[in-house]
Amino acid sequence: MLLKNKHILLAITGGIAAYKCAHLVRLLVKEGAHVKVVLTKSAQEFVTTKTLSVLSKNEVVTDFFDSNNNWNNHVALAEWADIMLVAPLTANTLSKFANGLCDNMVSACYLSAKCPVFVAPAMDLDMYKHPTTIKNLKTLESNKNIIIPAEHGELASGLVGEGRMAEPENIVDFMKKTMSQHLPFSGKKILVNAGPTYEAIDPVRFIGNRSSGKMGVALADEFAKQGADVTLVLGPSHIKPTEQTVETIMVESADEMFEKCNALFRTIDIAVLSAAVADYKPETIYNSKIKKQDGALTLNLIKTTDILESLGKQKQHQILVGFALETDNLLEYAKEKIKKKNLDFIVANSASEKGSGFGVDTNKITIIDKHNNLHNFELKSKQAVAKDIVQFTYKTLKDHA
Ligand code: CTP
Repeated sequence: MLLKNKHILLAITGGIAAYKCAHLVRLLVKEGAHVKVVLTKSAQEFVTTKTLSVLSKNEVVTDFFDSNNNWNNHVALAEWADIMLVAPLTANTLSKFANGLCDNMVSACYLSAKCPVFVAPAMDLDMYKHPTTIKNLKTLESNKNIIIPAEHGELASGLVGEGRMAEPENIVDFMKKTMSQHLPFSGKKILVNAGPTYEAIDPVRFIGNRSSGKMGVALADEFAKQGADVTLVLGPSHIKPTEQTVETIMVESADEMFEKCNALFRTIDIAVLSAAVADYKPETIYNSKIKKQDGALTLNLIKTTDILESLGKQKQHQILVGFALETDNLLEYAKEKIKKKNLDFIVANSASEKGSGFGVDTNKITIIDKHNNLHNFELKSKQAVAKDIVQFTYKTLKDHA
């Protein structure tokens, strides 16, 4: 949801494609964006201000003064915007933008905008190909405006060629893709593991732990929101990521979790291992349900592979982050784990402190970096803790570069 809660100022100029802007506003609102619309006089010939006002749930601005002679402040409108989108952009308005002309509300907002400006040109094919148009579009590009290329198809003139305004769906996809490329972790591949593991005893029983997976799933979501390409290797948990771009691989045992993480490690940039992996598993998994007998039952447990330690041994360019959950001597044990597992930093949380650790919605962490510096954080929701960890990872990534 890259456009969620974003303030989008949609400027509509007078081309036939303006009629598609009613649908465009709907799509933007559906993405969770707040939309305000400003349109030129000629745009009003193609789409009504009433339609746009109802769909955007905001007043529509057409002139420097409204019907009561109140001044519409273009500077305030431009400042309100996180993104300005000009669609359709006619050859006439393009020429004004390229030359700094200011004779209506749209051009005044354009000149006042400090946010990213997307433009979706729309004109007849010969106009689109004209050297002046090409030169004007280049000027806009050199001013850091983002051009949403016109599409090929039938034009208002009846001719067929390039010049149609990109379809509203394509405009929204284009904006989302561009926004994601500007995020802190765009282009980074991140592996997160989370949740408990279940070690089978027989077909109906297992040894598990009380981890819910909440912390790791919140981390996967936060990295994805910040543009990363996230793979989440998740043990048995009911919590699922909310970000659609997170690729989730469900596993059950420590062995399966090791196999998946190990296979991915070479190709990733950052690994954050938050899973509560079982340290021991039954030596034998019975094929049939164990029947009750007289006397005690002894299960022989053998060690599982330490996933984090194994990845630490293979580490090359990757940033490796571990977690430490302890009931006693939290910081000393956590510091030992940084060295032993070759980590860039460790997130220490106490299993005995109130509001921290397994099952609960909050956590209180201390991050210890590889130089043994401590970074203490307040008790917060796991989502807020995930933000702190992601921010710390970003700082580590920058120091690493
Ligand atoms: N870890 C792992 N594989 C294991 C055990 C732990 O990858 N088989 C990882 C955890 O995901 C965590 C870190 O190691 O990031 C520390 O886990 P923790 O349970 O705190 O410590 P252990 O190393 O298992 O040692 P101990 O249980 O003795 O504290």
